[in-house]
Amino acid sequence: METEVLKIDDTSLARARELILGGELCAFPTETVYGLGALAYSDEAVEKIFEAKGRPSDNPLIVHVHKDYDVDKLVTVEYDYVYRLREAFLPGPLTMVYKSKGMVSPVATCGLGTVGIRIPSHEGAQAFLKAVDVPVAAPSANVSKHTSPVTARHVLEDLGGKIPLILDGGKCTGGIESTVLDVTTDTPVILRSGLVTADMIRKVAGKCRYSENKPTDEIRAPGMKYRHYCPKCETALFERKDFVRAQEYHDRAELQGRRVCFMCDEEMASLVRGKILSLGRTAEQIASNLYDKLHEAEEVADLVVAFAVDTGSDVDVGIMNRLSKACKKAADERE
Ligand code: TXA
Ligand code: MG
Repeated sequence: METEVLKIDDTSLARARELILGGELCAFPTETVYGLGALAYSDEAVEKIFEAKGRPSDNPLIVHVHKDYDVDKLVTVEYDYVYRLREAFLPGPLTMVYKSKGMVSPVATCGLGTVGIRIPSHEGAQAFLKAVDVPVAAPSANVSKHTSPVTARHVLEDLGGKIPLILDGGKCTGGIESTVLDVTTDTPVILRSGLVTADMIRKVAGKCRYSENKPTDEIRAPGMKYRHYCPKCETALFERKDFVRAQEYHDRAELQGRRVCFMCDEEMASLVRGKILSLGRTAEQIASNLYDKLHEAEEVADLVVAFAVDTGSDVDVGIMNRLSKACKKAADERE
C-alpha cells in the first residue's frame, strides 16, 4: 500500500474522513505525539491498528474526540471532580479513564469496561476530529516498543507502506504522551505521568495519587508492563553524579570504533566531552525534545549515553518514566 503524507487542508481532511468512516487508518498530529487513528465503534477498524503496530492485544487504546463532542454519550461520570478537571485542563494532554457505556469497540478497550477519553488541544488534531465527527481510537503512531513519533517523517519511517494516510502537522511540541488518569475512584489515580502533573491535578481535584503498580495489583494500565519507547541504537542511562564513569564508558566505546553520543540537559552537557544531543534546560524543553533526539540518535549513533533528568519540576516524573524505559533494553542485555 502506498502511504500519502499530506499537509492539513480541506482536501486532506476530506480524504481522512473518507478513510476513517470507511474503516481504514489515518495518522494525525496532536500536541503530544502523532496518533494512529481508526473508527472507535468498529472492531475491524480498530483491529487494523493492532496489526499495523504489532501491538499486544491486551493493551487498550485511548479514544479521541473534538472539543464540542458530547463525551457523556460514551462514558459515565461518577465524581464531581471530573467536571473541574475538564474545565481546567481540556482540551489538552490529559486522558481520563471512565466507566464505559459500551459504545466503543471492546477491541479498543480490551473488554475492560472502562475507556480512556482524550480531547487534544492541537489545532490539526481538532480539525481532523471535527472533520470525521466520530470517536477515534488512537495509540501513538509507531511500531510497538519503538520511540514515539513527533514528526510525520517518524510515522512514515515506522508505518510507511502499512497505512494509507499521514496528516502532517509539523513537529509536536509537548513531546511526551498525555497523562492518563483513572477517574473511576473517589481519589483520581495517575496511571501514566505526563505534562499535566499530580500537583496540577491535586490543586483542582483536591486529591490525586500515583498508581503503585505493585506486581500483585490487577494491572490497571495494562500498557505499562511492556517495553516501550526504545530507539534502534544501544542506550545506557547514568545517574547524574556518575558523570566520570559515564565519560569513561563513552570513551571506551569510542576507542572500540563505535559512534557514541551523549544525550542530556544543558547542565550535564557542560560536564562531559564528546558529541552531545542536548535536550535543553527546563523540564518542558526536555519533554518536548526527548523523542525527537532519540530518533536523531538512531541516525547518528550506535550507542547513546544518557543522563537522568532532575530539574525539580513534577514533569520530571513523566520524563524519567520514558527515559528509563527507552534505555531498558540495553540494561537487560547487559545483565
Ligand atoms: O498523548 C497520547 O496519549 C497519545 C496521543 C496519540 O493522543 N496516545 C497514546 O496512546 O499515547 P497509547 O495507546 O500509546 O497509550 C495509551 C495508554 C496505555 O498505557 C494504556 O494502557 C492506557 O493508556 N489506557 C488506555 N485505555 C485504558 C483503560 N481503559 N484503562 C487503563 N489504561 C488505559
Ligand atoms: Mg505508545
